[in-house]
Amino acid sequence: MKRRRSVLDLLCVIALLAGASGTARAAGQCGVCHPESRVAFAASIHAREQVTCTSCHGGDADTQNVERAHSGSFRGLRNRLATPEMCATCHSDLQMMSAYNLPVDQYAVYQTSQHGMAVAGGDSSAAVCIDCHGSHVIYAAADPRSSVASRNIPTTCGVCHSDEELMERYGLDPGVVEDYETGIHGRSLLIAGNLAAPNCTSCHGVHGATPPGVGDIDKVCGACHVQTRRAFLDGPHYQGMTEAGLPECATCHSNHAIQGLEVASIDTLCADCHGENSDEVLLGSKMHTLIEAATVEVEKAEALVLEGERAALDVEDHLGRIEEARTYLTEALPLAHSVSLEPVEQVTRRSRSIGEEVQHEIYAKLDRTEAHIGLVVFWFYVFMTLVILFLLKRRMSAGGEIA
Ligand code: HEC
Ligand code: HEC
Ligand code: HEC
Ligand code: HEC
Ligand code: HEC
Ligand code: HEC
Ligand code: HEC
Ligand code: HEC
Ligand code: HEC
Repeated sequence: MKRRRSVLDLLCVIALLAGASGTARAAGQCGVCHPESRVAFAASIHAREQVTCTSCHGGDADTQNVERAHSGSFRGLRNRLATPEMCATCHSDLQMMSAYNLPVDQYAVYQTSQHGMAVAGGDSSAAVCIDCHGSHVIYAAADPRSSVASRNIPTTCGVCHSDEELMERYGLDPGVVEDYETGIHGRSLLIAGNLAAPNCTSCHGVHGATPPGVGDIDKVCGACHVQTRRAFLDGPHYQGMTEAGLPECATCHSNHAIQGLEVASIDTLCADCHGENSDEVLLGSKMHTLIEAATVEVEKAEALVLEGERAALDVEDHLGRIEEARTYLTEALPLAHSVSLEPVEQVTRRSRSIGEEVQHEIYAKLDRTEAHIGLVVFWFYVFMTLVILFLLKRRMSAGGEIA
């Protein structure tokens, strides 16, 4: 290992003398004595952009003398609490960052976050820039290797948020990452690779990390579930729940371990808060029945259309209408969040009547085909009978001849 390192150092010095390697140049003489840092740093986005060891550490990169190298403006950056301000010297510099079309608000937003406020209060356990981004190996956020690439974020946050001892100190739940991973969003992002599913920062903000409060949760979820939020706001629950201090969407769905709910759960859910035999429970079960009944008709229609297709009927138009009926059905689920009957009734009526119409039409076509087949069979019999009669007659007359 030592030997390899000295060979590396030698190569580096040669490269430096030849002026051949850009990254070696970025490391200057620092890289000769700190080869591990140099190698780690060489892969980062900074090394490509004339950020050098001294940009962050200060000191003198043109000497092989330990004292001189670490003199003057040199800082070891061992104090975590000072690092955000250091990163901000560039990242809050509008002139420097606008050339890259990068925002310059990270430090400002960070200071308003739970992390930033804890750090400002001298707490060194909360996240600073390098906990999420690394210090030497920093990639562009969009680079899949980055610790802040969408699919890597839960792991990056989990370093602290799954640490039971640390979270206990703050009275925070150490199960949030695990809950998220087993929920529909986590599975969608991490297993199915669906980048439209939210990661931690979609709901908590990137640099602003705060839990959304009651009254704002509908906005956070509504960024993606637009129709559902609109219906929720149109109904009595938004006001009722925020006044009761209930966390809106998260009251019924939880915040991290969100699972897809069965439509049938409408029945039991309403009773949890409104009591058995209440008007609200009745309303819930009416909505459930409407959705269920429409679903049954659409499914029956679809099965018939497929049967028709097998019987060589032209079902192009019917397939299109099944699609339309399904679209109305998917609208019913978000609309049910208004907890009012009318909008749900409207769309389920449409999908149900399309389902019923399609069924009638296919039945009629199938009947017609059956009648058609019956006719063919009838004429076939008639024809065969005539042929047989003809043959018999011929045989009889032939027999007559012999006789
Ligand atoms: C001649 C070799 C040499 C050169 C050149 C050199 N260093 Fe060091 N560096 C050392 C040694 C030795 C230490 C001490 C290690 C220790 O204390 O554990 C050290 C320590 C450090 C530390 C840790 C400081 C701390 O507070 O713990 C940092 C950061 C560092 N060097 C950065 C740099 C930078 C940046 C440069 C270039 C400007 C540089 N070094 C140039 C040899 C060198
Ligand atoms: C973007 C800012 C930044 C740049 C550029 C940078 N460092 Fe650092 N470096 C840090 C921070 C922050 C720490 C302290 C936190 C840590 O250890 O991760 C650190 C720690 C160190 C340490 C002590 C800990 C260790 O990893 O051994 C050394 C040595 C070091 N840097 C050398 C270098 C050298 C050599 C270069 C150039 C090749 C360099 N750094 C470039 C930010 C930077
Ligand atoms: C000397 C100025 C400077 C310092 C100090 C600095 N950066 Fe940078 N940073 C840059 C430049 C320039 C880029 C390149 C932007 C690009 O290519 O898009 C960059 C890029 C980045 C990116 C990638 C942005 C993207 O495109 O997604 C991250 C993340 C980042 N820096 C984090 C940090 C962190 C964390 C620190 C402190 C440890 C830090 N930077 C310190 C200048 C600096
Ligand atoms: C709690 C984790 C966390 C902390 C702390 C953090 N970042 Fe970030 N940062 C992220 C994530 C996640 C992204 C990716 C955002 C995206 O993909 O849109 C990001 C993106 C960036 C970018 C790319 C441009 C942008 O704004 O999207 C820069 C530059 C950056 N951070 C710098 C910093 C600096 C400087 C600090 C410290 C003041 C810091 N970050 C603190 C998580 C963090
Ligand atoms: C270095 C450890 C560390 C990392 C990494 C980290 N956090 Fe934190 N986070 C903390 C600590 C410690 C607190 C408690 C701060 C306090 O309450 O004073 C906290 C607080 C929070 C809070 C506020 C919780 C509340 O109700 O008070 C949210 C939200 C949060 N973090 C989200 C995130 C997200 C999202 C990520 C990843 C992008 C992340 N954190 C990464 C340590 C970390
Ligand atoms: C779909 C949105 C969403 C996603 C994704 C999400 N959260 Fe949350 N998180 C919430 C909501 C909403 C709350 C607050 C719930 C409340 O007020 O009851 C919360 C609360 C928290 C808290 C405070 C918990 C406490 O004990 O008070 C932390 C910490 C946290 N989330 C971290 C994370 C981390 C880490 C991730 C990624 C693994 C993540 N969240 C993903 C919505 C989300
Ligand atoms: C009173 C409890 C309750 C509240 C509050 C609630 N939901 Fe639902 N949600 C349900 C039930 C029950 C289902 C399953 C039946 C259905 O789809 O109507 C469901 C289904 C869903 C679905 C899947 C169905 C679809 O549309 O594809 C999503 C997404 C959803 N809810 C998001 C939200 C959002 C976002 C909010 C806040 C704006 C919210 N929910 C508030 C009870 C609730
Ligand atoms: C960044 C976008 C985004 C945000 C923010 C978001 N979701 Fe989702 N959600 C999705 C996507 C995408 C899916 C589909 C996942 C899949 O099936 O692969 C989904 C699925 C769901 C489902 C299950 C739907 C089904 O088909 O059964 C529910 C329930 C849900 N989300 C509720 C919520 C709640 C509650 C919040 C806020 C706390 C929220 N979502 C925030 C994108 C988001
Ligand atoms: C987590 C508790 C909770 C659940 C579950 C819940 N509700 Fe509510 N609901 C409330 C609160 C709180 C209010 C506002 C206060 C009130 O009127 O009782 C409310 C109000 C209503 C209202 C308006 C009542 C009025 O008199 O103005 C209707 C209608 C309603 N809910 C229907 C439903 C239906 C249907 C379900 C099942 C799908 C349901 N709720 C599930 C908490 C809940």
